[in-house]
Amino acid sequence: MKELSKTYGKIILIGEHSVVYGMPAIAIPFNGVELNVYISENDKNFISCKFFEGELENSSEELRGITELVNSFLNKYQISRKIKIIIDSTIPNERGMGSSAAASFGVSKALFEYFEIDASIDEIIEIANVSEKIIHGNPSGVDLGVVSSNSSIYFIKGKEFEYFPINIDAYLIIADTGIKGKTKEAVSDVKDILDREEANYDKINMLGKLANNAKNYIQIGEINKLGETMYLAHQLLKELTVSNEKLDNLVEISMKHGALGAKLTGGGRGGCMIALSDTKEKALKIKEELSKLSANTWMTYLKK
Ligand code: MEV
Repeated sequence: MKELSKTYGKIILIGEHSVVYGMPAIAIPFNGVELNVYISENDKNFISCKFFEGELENSSEELRGITELVNSFLNKYQISRKIKIIIDSTIPNERGMGSSAAASFGVSKALFEYFEIDASIDEIIEIANVSEKIIHGNPSGVDLGVVSSNSSIYFIKGKEFEYFPINIDAYLIIADTGIKGKTKEAVSDVKDILDREEANYDKINMLGKLANNAKNYIQIGEINKLGETMYLAHQLLKELTVSNEKLDNLVEISMKHGALGAKLTGGGRGGCMIALSDTKEKALKIKEELSKLSANTWMTYLKK
């Protein structure tokens, strides 16, 4: 069976959470993990993935977003033909790597492909958003922005995303805490913190400023400053209560072994963290140290 869509993971370099409040974020695709969707004719609507295999109408809570997405697509285009959807993914789930955006966009794109309906990226995103809203509650759109374009972006909610090529002589190490991230809960807790104390918006504004500084440092190749900026962002995310002990520990281990900066990435409370290194040698050392405590680690060179 030929795959109808292939999507990749994403890493938020800076700007998670504050992006929900209109601040900028920089995110990059991560091609070390991927998700493929296959569709074929069937006598009943059927889905097969890591969490569930069976009729779509009996699917588990974890698949509620995708189920609603498929139903809304079939209703919108008045399709009564039955299909089997297979989602085959190496993107770790609920780890801040964009697995839900990759699945939502991947399934949406595959449906348009399979039924040979011409669609713009915006139309594919609109269908994908049915699922994202159920999974995330109030998504900023940054995850779908990277996943749909498969390029690094500078993103502000509600604005057209700006393709933002990253070409710096530095290595990014990614480590999975092995703990499921809790994006929906973390986003909702940040909202409570902001509702409770107006002054906490200063942290959001500061994260926005850091994201813009990071953009500038990337453009001029100031990787030391970029690292410092990432580490500062982690401290603010910590104050917003979206880090946890394991993430903090992995961040500190990275710094101890020569990282220029390190921070959590994505929704937090688990999921993944990232560290920046200026040399391959140091990056390998950081990766080795992180792997002693992580479920999985990756490394990527940021020069194209
Ligand atoms: C999740 O990958 C990023 C958050 O900023 C939420 C969002 O932007 O929708 C935490």
